[in-house]
Amino acid sequence: MKYTTIRYGVAAALVFAIGCSSSRQSNFAGKDKLPIDRKVDSVLKLMTLEEKVGQMNQYNGFWDVTGPVPKDGQAAKKYENLKKGLVGSMLNVRGVKDVRALQKIAVEETRLGIPLIFGFDVVHGYKTVSPIPLAEAASWDLEAMKKSAEIAAAEAAVSGLNWTFAPMVDISRDARWGRVMEGAGEDPYLGSQIAIARVKGFQGDKLDEFHIAACTKHFAGYGFAESGRDYNTVDISDNTLHNIILPPFKATVDAGVLTFMNSFNELEGIPATGNAYLQRNLLKGEWKFDGFVVSDWGSMGEMIAHGYAKDMKDAAMKAANAGSDMDMESYGYLNHLVTLVKEGKVSEDKINDAVRRILKVKFELGLFENPYKYCDENREKQNIGKKEFQDGVLDMAKKSIVLLKNENKLLPLKKSGQKIAVIGALANDKTSPLGSWRIGADDNTAISFLEGMAAYKGNQITYEKGADVALGEPRFMVETKINTTDKSSFDKAIAAAKQADVVIMVLGEHGLQTGEGRSRSDITLPGVQQELLEAVYKANPNIVLVLQNGRPLAIPWAAKNIPAIVEAWHLGTQSGHAIAQVLYGDYNPSGKLPMTFPRNVGQVPIYYNYKNTGRPSTDNPESVFWSHYTDIENTPLYPFGHGLSYSTFEYSNLKLDTKSLQKNGKIKVTVDVKNTSSVDGKEVVQLYIRDLVASVTRPVRELKGFELAEIKAGQTKTVSFTIDEKTIEFYSANKIWEAEAGDFQLFVGGSSTATLQADFNYSN
Ligand code: BGC
Repeated sequence: MKYTTIRYGVAAALVFAIGCSSSRQSNFAGKDKLPIDRKVDSVLKLMTLEEKVGQMNQYNGFWDVTGPVPKDGQAAKKYENLKKGLVGSMLNVRGVKDVRALQKIAVEETRLGIPLIFGFDVVHGYKTVSPIPLAEAASWDLEAMKKSAEIAAAEAAVSGLNWTFAPMVDISRDARWGRVMEGAGEDPYLGSQIAIARVKGFQGDKLDEFHIAACTKHFAGYGFAESGRDYNTVDISDNTLHNIILPPFKATVDAGVLTFMNSFNELEGIPATGNAYLQRNLLKGEWKFDGFVVSDWGSMGEMIAHGYAKDMKDAAMKAANAGSDMDMESYGYLNHLVTLVKEGKVSEDKINDAVRRILKVKFELGLFENPYKYCDENREKQNIGKKEFQDGVLDMAKKSIVLLKNENKLLPLKKSGQKIAVIGALANDKTSPLGSWRIGADDNTAISFLEGMAAYKGNQITYEKGADVALGEPRFMVETKINTTDKSSFDKAIAAAKQADVVIMVLGEHGLQTGEGRSRSDITLPGVQQELLEAVYKANPNIVLVLQNGRPLAIPWAAKNIPAIVEAWHLGTQSGHAIAQVLYGDYNPSGKLPMTFPRNVGQVPIYYNYKNTGRPSTDNPESVFWSHYTDIENTPLYPFGHGLSYSTFEYSNLKLDTKSLQKNGKIKVTVDVKNTSSVDGKEVVQLYIRDLVASVTRPVRELKGFELAEIKAGQTKTVSFTIDEKTIEFYSANKIWEAEAGDFQLFVGGSSTATLQADFNYSN
């Protein structure tokens, strides 16, 4: 039987009249083959202006659905609005029972029975937590990151959720910004590849009951908050916006992401939520994005504080006209949009466009066919925390670890006969490794470092805390709660170190010391941990430093003095096992830094793809007038792309099949990578280019390709890359993406400081 618009109308009216959910479901379901756009139009035609605006309203979970129905206050009002069909989406409601209860109200008690979409920040796992996204990015393993997103999606989906507010694709060059833990680091190329992998993981090939809608955020520029202070003003050039910030966003549109989130910051003086250039011209215009844009939490209302809107009504008008489709918790649309349409200040066409986009995503998720598609208690029970997920996040965690330094082959550890002193509060912490943004997971559910080490029985392990990382309630951690004074446990730690063959110090940041609202002006080891490190070093310098942190840290003393340093980030539920397996050599690390580690905070922002400037260097050591500091060198502590392995690799034989790239042509680049060690290993082979002269200045290096090469001990692998016009395109002086004729340098190696070089030119 064929569906027509009339049929929807009849179906809805009928269902409304008889109030029967099952017939409503099947009537709306439409087992027909009508294209989604026509189904959307059929529904839209039935809607009043109020109901349309209702779809544009998203509420935070307001009611404990297992408790009594709210009788007064804001919760009661929200409840009434839900029943009136004035809510399109909920966030932070999770668990099949709760989701089902709210969906039932939307489907059975509202006039049209339009299902809700349930959003949640499934940023790096739901209950089973994978490494923080910055750590995952260090794996450079796109398949693994896709798989990790798939696990997160599946666990969220079985819990009733159908929309994650991820991936966060904000490029950032500022380690002070707490939210660097949520992104993929500083590079637009790597960031784009990772963004695509995550969207594909969350959404799958088809949106079945284990996959959910993804949301690319925060559009745009949020990672460039001045001084790394969260929510701060952003002031960037068009050049930086287009060449550095936007590529990962665009990549997810091309990969079919269903939704976008705008951001708290302003751009060119206009808050992103009210920014028509970003949302209408670029995203929905040029890029042809056909999903919907949700505001960030309260960001519509924040346009008042920005000084861009007079009051909430003005803010709602500006947001709607600028193309922000759904209002997260400002109540601006709900309270003002109908009036604004009646006053002619927002056209009904714009409302229709927003609602079409929202309904379309609901159709794509299959919610009209079955609003309870994600609500199966058995599925929930059978899947949450299951072994396959645990194995998956363990695999991801191992791949995320970066071996920063390993002198005298201190690592891997011997498996027996050793006395090992483990020192540091983080070693015994089962919450911190979960990191920030893991609101679906419970405290104390990570495998601690000590538990991971305990899986190996051959050595004798002693543990001393040495010093706390943080005091008080970590959930609301602020710097005043960081332990800056208590050294009373130092002595015991020093005594333990003296007795040990090897000391492992687990230091860094508490899991909630990064993330939203957790910017730091000092990015050294917090509290008295640096003093502890130096005191223990005096007693026994044979130290492996295991860092657990959510951002690049400035650790120059450790980099100089400590023989082995392992960057273990916040690795999630299986953290302890992952680190122990790497330390014992059962897993050979291959991670590479996705973000530069500075020598001190004064170097920040520091990044590998900087511009050369007019005074890049001088041959005269006495010279003053060149671009440098007088008190520290320009180079970072650890560059982008850096990471060691228990294998060693040698690069040679870099070849280009032609040195001249023609329009529509290609260059094949090959390089030999030899594993010169006696252990099998993996190496992230990286390719960078430099465009020497262009219509706008170009970075000294740009990552343009990488391959994760598995190379057996003693063997050589030839790795190849292809370069074409796309590789050399950039946002030019003409304000378009184009390839310009000229000369290029190309570098291949194991980090952004690769020295193996070849040249080519491009003529068009
Ligand atoms: C964050 C978003 C997040 C939203 C909902 C905001 O504060 O900036 O990234 O998705 O809250 O939790």
